[in-house]
Amino acid sequence: MKLTQKEQEMFEGKHGIATKKSMEILVALGEIFGAERLVPVTSVQVSGVSYANLGDAGLEYLEEMAKDGKVKVYTTLNPAGMDTENWQALGISPEFAEKQKKVIEAFAKMGIHTTCTCTPYYIGNRPKKGENISWGESSAVTFANSVLGAKTNKEGGPSALAAALTGRTPEYGLHLDENRQAQVLVEVNAEMKDETDFGALGYLIGKRIGNKIPLIIGIKETTEDRLKALSASLPSWGGTAIFHIKGITPNETTEPSERIELKQEDFEKAKQEMNDECEVDFVLLGCPHCSMDELERISKLLKGKKVKKEFWVAVARPVKKQAEKKGYVKTIEEAGAKFACDTCHVVAPLKGRFNCVMTNSAKGVFYGRGKNNFKMQLNTLEGCVEEATR
Ligand code: F3S
Repeated sequence: MKLTQKEQEMFEGKHGIATKKSMEILVALGEIFGAERLVPVTSVQVSGVSYANLGDAGLEYLEEMAKDGKVKVYTTLNPAGMDTENWQALGISPEFAEKQKKVIEAFAKMGIHTTCTCTPYYIGNRPKKGENISWGESSAVTFANSVLGAKTNKEGGPSALAAALTGRTPEYGLHLDENRQAQVLVEVNAEMKDETDFGALGYLIGKRIGNKIPLIIGIKETTEDRLKALSASLPSWGGTAIFHIKGITPNETTEPSERIELKQEDFEKAKQEMNDECEVDFVLLGCPHCSMDELERISKLLKGKKVKKEFWVAVARPVKKQAEKKGYVKTIEEAGAKFACDTCHVVAPLKGRFNCVMTNSAKGVFYGRGKNNFKMQLNTLEGCVEEATR
């Protein structure tokens, strides 16, 4: 790989130990994937924040990097294993909380914004079309590539942190236009009326074409919340971190000759496959974390009602703060639902606490089953509120 003079100096340790270690990671990655150079990044989203995933070895690594490491670009954090202010109410143990706080302190020492969320694009980390970025968290990565038109690979925690500490990433994969072109035309002949349809679309595309890049046709209109649902579902059930929708998403692409068709009955079957037989004891909305529009919809539905099951609304803390001003938070809390800022049902240590979770997220179904061994049910936002209050 060709390094600039400054990059060479960073690699040799002239800018400190954390920068040196970061350059070693980036150069090794670049060499594995055949990158010719590093490119500057404008923003970073670091995943791998939950102490449940990091353990003591991960915490030690971060504390080591925090000794002299400082981020060079705007950097935000993925959800942690708990709500950093309200962890007792969500049933987190003091031992876990202590370790999780240390993880977040280490990130803060490096200059990272510690609002832990998988929707950094709601809190000021919203890159523009064509920008090179380095993001972890598959739903955020897919949203950034597909909906915003920025360019990022699916980074792991150490490589995203290395990009933050150097302001660079190796140029390979989805940073290169030739690797962002559609490979399969997906014709949708079905009614696409809510977020679960878009979640099911990600499920179907993932199952049918694996990690090939789709160009979707047949969708005339949508909302950002629905595109967020597709961005979360597609990489969970498939593998690709970019999609195109004709007339809707901003990237240019060539039209592939391989073609599949998705019909109404495929969507019905997909939803059935994402529904386990079980009695719901936990309802979760906000996977990925809720937008202001979603909070407004939840608050309208919960007004004057009481929830009868554990009900979490996962959201970025700054979005919750804005929602407080509009009165949504008061209405939702008066109904007995709990806000889970900084975390979610997958990264929090919840294994064994619940049996059957209902959510409106197809990604939530995938990871709820896989990571926490929950039985899962997929329903619309309205259906989830109804289940929680009936
Ligand atoms: Fe976000 Fe957790 Fe879902 S990180 S996308 S709420 S699994």
